[in-house]
Amino acid sequence: MTTFICSPGEKISGNIRVPGDKSISHRSVILSSIAEGVSHISGFLQGEDSLNTIKAFQQMGVAIERECDRVQVTGVGLQGLRAPSADLDMGNSGTAMRLMLGLLAGQNFASRMVGDHSLSSRPMLRVIDPLRTMGASIESADGGRAPLQIYASQGLQAISYDMPVASAQIKSCLLLAGLYATGETRVHQPAPTRDHSERMLRAFGCEVVSDGSEIRMLAGQTLSACDVEIPADISSAAFFMVAATISADSDITLQHVGINPTRTGVIDILNLMGARIELLNRREIGGEPVADIRVQSAQLTGIDIPRELVPLAIDEFPVLFVAAACARGSTRLSGAEELRVKESDRIQVMADGLTVLGIATRVQLDGIIIEGGRIGAGTVDSHGDHRTAMAYCVASLRAQGDIRINNSDNVKTSFPGFAELANTAGLRIQTDE
Ligand code: S3P
Repeated sequence: MTTFICSPGEKISGNIRVPGDKSISHRSVILSSIAEGVSHISGFLQGEDSLNTIKAFQQMGVAIERECDRVQVTGVGLQGLRAPSADLDMGNSGTAMRLMLGLLAGQNFASRMVGDHSLSSRPMLRVIDPLRTMGASIESADGGRAPLQIYASQGLQAISYDMPVASAQIKSCLLLAGLYATGETRVHQPAPTRDHSERMLRAFGCEVVSDGSEIRMLAGQTLSACDVEIPADISSAAFFMVAATISADSDITLQHVGINPTRTGVIDILNLMGARIELLNRREIGGEPVADIRVQSAQLTGIDIPRELVPLAIDEFPVLFVAAACARGSTRLSGAEELRVKESDRIQVMADGLTVLGIATRVQLDGIIIEGGRIGAGTVDSHGDHRTAMAYCVASLRAQGDIRINNSDNVKTSFPGFAELANTAGLRIQTDE
C-alpha cells in the first residue's frame, strides 16, 4: 500500500506541465481503434486507466504501439474489432467501462468487462438501462454492478434519451452505441457536460449536431483516422492551482492545459472565492481550447458554489474542499450527489479526512458545508481514490505538522509521477510503499 507522508510546504512556483487529459486520452484510443486508417496520438496520459483502454483494444485485435506519450493506432474500422479471448479489465476507470459498454453493445461478438473493487461497486444501470432499450443484451452482477457480460448484438435501434443525471459518460456511451444502431441517436442533457466525445467524433469525420442541451448523431457513419494532440489535464492542473493559491508568495504556470468550457468550473469557482488566475497564450489545438494558466497566492473567501458550475467541476471537488478549508468563512456545495458515486464517496471521504485535520464540516445528502480554519496534522485515508489522495497532499501545504495519507496507490491511475512533480513545485511529499 502506498502511503504519502506530506510535510508543510513553502511557496509553490515553477513552470510545469501536468500529464495528458484522461477523458480525451480514453476517447482518442476508442475512436482511433474503430476508425479507418492510422491515427497518431500525442500527449497521451500514461496512467493506468488509459493504459487499460489501450490493452482492451489490443485484446480485440487492434494494433496499437506506444512510446511514452505517443501512440500509433491502426484502426480496424467500425466492423473490424474481434472477440477478446479473455475478460477486458477496466481497472479503476468508470469512464472506460461506461464508454466501452456502449461500443461493445453494438458488436457481433460477446465480451465481458471487469474492474477493481471500487469500479465493481459503481452504478452501471445508468448506461445498461438505455442500452437495453436500444436492444442490447447485457447482464450485470447484483444491483447493476460489474462484472458486465455483453452478448453479441442482434441489432440496435437508436433512441431519444433524456438523461436523468448530467453525465458525459452516459452521453458518450449512447453516442458510441449509436454508431452501431439504425436511425438517429438523440441525447438530452439536463445541464452541460464535457463535450470531448462530440468534438472528437467530428475530428474523425462524423456529423454530430448539438445545441448544448440535445446532441444528435446519425448511425452508421464512418470514422477516418486523424492525429490527436492531447492537452494537459485541467483536473490534474487543479491540484497545483489550489496549491499555489493557498501558499504564501506563490506563482506557478501550468503549461498547455485544456480549457474546454465544459471543464473550467474549477477556475470559475476559485475566481469567485478570490483566486488570482490568468489564462495566457490561449490557442486551439485539435478542436480543443488550450492555455497556460498562471496562478498566484490569494486569500480566499467562502462562497455558495453556484449549482450550474457543479457538472463543470465535478472531478475537482476534493481539492476545492481543501481550498474551502483555507478560505475565510463557510463554503456550501449542493446539487452534487454524483460525488457519492465516484471512485469513492467523495463527500464522506473528504469530510472524514478534513475532520481528522481539525476542519469543521457538515455533510448533506447532496453536498457539504465547510468552515474555513486551521489545518492540523494527522493520518487520513484516501479510500483508494486518486483525487482525494492528491487533495490531502495539497492540504499539507497549510498544515501544522505532517499529514499521512494511506491508500494512495491509485494516484497512478490519473497522475503518474505526481509526488515527484509536486516536489519540484514546492510540496514536500515522501512516498512509503
Ligand atoms: C468523465 C465524465 C465525468 C467525470 C469522469 C470522466 C468522462 O463523469 O467524473 O472522471 O470522461 O466522460 P460523469 O460524466 O459520469 O459525471
